[in-house]
Amino acid sequence: MMKVSVIGLGYLGVTHAVAMAKLGHQVLGIEPDATRLEALEQGILPFHEPDLGEGLKEVIASGLLTFSANHSKESCAIELHFICVGTPQLAVSQAADTSYVEAAAKELAPWLSETAVVAGKSTVPVGTAQKLKDSMSAVSGFEVHLVWNPEFLREGTALEDSLKPDRIVIGSWSQHGFDVMRKVYRPIIEIGTPFLEMDVPTAELVKVAANSFLATKISFINAMAEVAEVSGADAVALAKAIGYDERIGNQFLRTGMGFGGGCLPKDIRGFVARAQELGVGSAVDFLKNVDSINIRRRDKVVELALSELGELGNKNITMLGVSFKPDSDDLRDSPALEIAQRLQALGAKVTVHDPVSLEALVTRSPELGQEQDLLEACANADLLILGTEWKEYKDVDPQKIAELVATKTVIDGRNVLNVAKWQSAGFKVIALGRNIHNG
Ligand SMILES: NC(=O)c1ccc[n+]([C@@H]2O[C@H](COP(=O)([O-])OP(=O)(O)OC[C@H]3O[C@@H](n4cnc5c(N)ncnc54)[C@H](O)[C@@H]3O)[C@@H](O)[C@H]2O)c1
Repeated sequence: MMKVSVIGLGYLGVTHAVAMAKLGHQVLGIEPDATRLEALEQGILPFHEPDLGEGLKEVIASGLLTFSANHSKESCAIELHFICVGTPQLAVSQAADTSYVEAAAKELAPWLSETAVVAGKSTVPVGTAQKLKDSMSAVSGFEVHLVWNPEFLREGTALEDSLKPDRIVIGSWSQHGFDVMRKVYRPIIEIGTPFLEMDVPTAELVKVAANSFLATKISFINAMAEVAEVSGADAVALAKAIGYDERIGNQFLRTGMGFGGGCLPKDIRGFVARAQELGVGSAVDFLKNVDSINIRRRDKVVELALSELGELGNKNITMLGVSFKPDSDDLRDSPALEIAQRLQALGAKVTVHDPVSLEALVTRSPELGQEQDLLEACANADLLILGTEWKEYKDVDPQKIAELVATKTVIDGRNVLNVAKWQSAGFKVIALGRNIHNG
């Protein structure tokens, strides 16, 4: 058992803190946001994430996870500190805002012992770790052991991903750093998880490279969808056909409204900005296209709504799902939310249904209508748009919805509906990248 701290208790930090406690470590969670801290202390998860709420209660009850708003003497005895604070996109540019990691490092530095290890988990521009190490070492008066340990969890399966990751990546300047990280992850390494040791800049780059690759794959198939839409082809059949090639693979090849969330969009933009600073902007210039293709899918859904409804004034549109992905209430850069906001701004009366995100939506977008009951949400709709591929939308009986809507038209923004079933319930089905014949 080790004493560790987890600094910054957002999606990543809470998950990591619970995972570390589940491995048997004594964990101190540091979070300055008073409302969030109070909720966590009571075992209440401040966001939706499957299985994490139960995990949180369990490790609080066992005494392995405790909380604090800031560092104190307790931090001096901690062997390993994980920095998990946010790195959002700057408001004034496409670059990542590293001020939160810089602040977290500065606050931690005075409490470090000479053998303590600081592990950065936030996604940062390459070169950030060196700056943090220098600034912390200047405060502590000795060379701080800083390692970079990027995180690959996916919201929706965050805890499972943390306890059974595909790989553990560690960049370190010192052997001591590698040794301490091996020790903390021992139970995960023992189940056969690859433990990859490398230099620090590579570890920083691994995360943005992985996200850039994933974003490129999604935008690739969405680019094919654009071509399919004007050539009578079907991008879903195309994706299936190319996905059989093992070198391509069929994951992340579903055409639709594209990617969103708190990671992929800001990570590819931050990567372009950092590459430009380093004088190699042209190496990742293609990521600007990846971003544009992604944004154009949102435009496409708005265009489809306009072409179906003409004027949007007084038209009722129901958005089915608003989080950026199912099993999450994360609304950051959500394609469905942006589309709902744009349609509302164009005069439509948009009602949003989502199994878990409506609470978060109240503060985020109070102008949008909300309905918790799926069938009620569809009542009198002139158009349905499936914005998030929640299971309940795939499973719903379209016949029941057909009886309630004003017009039987659905835009499947995620290509998950059973087209034949919806058509036999009388719906006109429109889907991105497809050439569907409706009656
Ligand atoms: N969310 C994900 O799925 C995911 C996955 C992998 C990597 N990441 C990366 O992890 C990092 C965190 O992402 P997130 O989604 O958890 O962000 P988040 O915004 O949900 O959480 C960040 C938390 O840090 C706290 N914080 C801010 N300044 C602090 C400070 N000085 N000391 C202590 N706490 C502080 C905030 O109050 C907040 O609770 C980002 O770099 C992100 O790119 C996120």
